[in-house]
Amino acid sequence: MSESVLEAKGHRFSSLAASGEVVRLGAVQAREIARLETGQPEFDRVLGGGLVGGGVVLLGGDPGIGKSTLLLQALADISARARTLYVSGEESAEQIALRAQRLGLAADIPLLTEIRMEAILTALRTERPQVAVIDSIQTVYTQQLQSAPGSVAQVRECAQELTRHAKQAGICILLVGHVTKEGTLAGPRVLEHIVDTVLYFEGDTGSSFRLIRAFKNRFGAVNELGVFAMTDKGLKGVSNPSALFLNRDGREAPGSCVVVALEGTRPLLVEIQALLDTAHGGNPRRLSVGLDGSRLAMLLAVLHRHGGVPCYDQDVFVNAVGGVKISEPAADLAVALAVVSSLRTKPIPHKLAAFGEVGLAGEIRPVQRGQERLKEVAKLGFTQALCPRANLPKTKVPGLEVKGVTSLAEALDYFRGL
Ligand code: TYD
Ligand code: MG
Repeated sequence: MSESVLEAKGHRFSSLAASGEVVRLGAVQAREIARLETGQPEFDRVLGGGLVGGGVVLLGGDPGIGKSTLLLQALADISARARTLYVSGEESAEQIALRAQRLGLAADIPLLTEIRMEAILTALRTERPQVAVIDSIQTVYTQQLQSAPGSVAQVRECAQELTRHAKQAGICILLVGHVTKEGTLAGPRVLEHIVDTVLYFEGDTGSSFRLIRAFKNRFGAVNELGVFAMTDKGLKGVSNPSALFLNRDGREAPGSCVVVALEGTRPLLVEIQALLDTAHGGNPRRLSVGLDGSRLAMLLAVLHRHGGVPCYDQDVFVNAVGGVKISEPAADLAVALAVVSSLRTKPIPHKLAAFGEVGLAGEIRPVQRGQERLKEVAKLGFTQALCPRANLPKTKVPGLEVKGVTSLAEALDYFRGL
């Protein structure tokens, strides 16, 4: 049997406003999409304000990171205002009830433990929930395909079928998707183009902080970040997270520099750590955790060519503290400083924060919303900031001494003088 039933069936999405008529754009009344809030402001933030009818959200993340917990909390809140259904293919009704009890969730959420897609669709039709959770998409299978549950073909077909239902019935479906260790996930990745919104849970299971990031969102901004703390009462939103990723013991250690990253709409201060050690053998190691590996290689080359800092005989490790991932080039300057600080065994003052993009010609390029970043730095009690000259504030930020630089060489001079 062919494993491509879905292609043969074609797409039958009746989108949010499918009418089959050709209309003039100017004649269309643009209105805000109605949102259903989840009772978790940090979750709503990444969703772009809340859930949307007809929208399908994929929530991906490592096993045990808190996907089921968050969605159970959200459904409990929503069920006071709208019809809901929680479909679990992973846990028994008893396990879920126990968790709800532990979380102190009083709400009576309709629950279905089922993995057959056809049965789930039937339940969706009879229960008519406005919001449904499928936990997880990898456990669901359709009898139309012979491959095993969790296989790419199954996951894709089931997600497509559920999405079709969401669009037709105008309901919101939240799909849980596990990310496997290799990050391949015969799941979330193959679903990204099918669903409307893709959210990923990040964070160290060693730390209690959890981040949810939007990678794709038809109904809101991407790169928005929701920050949570896992407590014994479930996930709690952290509304002012900017200082979470700082090492707070106040020691000045070589190889550490604080960056002001901008995640979605909020500036976030994150400590970057670097460790350089004499390499043994031909190929020195370059390892980055939470930062882009190829950007690190580029930064090391720029440091050598334009800063006169040779690292070719050094193993280089860099890490963004707290399990946060930073993809912004604005972190370049802080990474470069952390590297030099480790190499020279010279600490950077812990009341200093840096940001700026490093170009291949050794120039420091401006980044967006510099003023806002500087304000956040000052707010958190930092007294010094290093930034691209073009980002220097027009009016002085109280309590903050700001140095603007145009080149990496200039930044290194400044570091020498510290
Ligand atoms: P879970 O939501 O089951 O993860 P996922 O669905 O992503 O696999 O989260 C399970 C983890 O969260 C587990 O290690 C226990 C922890 N946890 C708490 O710390 N506090 C709580 O209140 C709950 C319900 C779970
Ligand atoms: Mg789970």
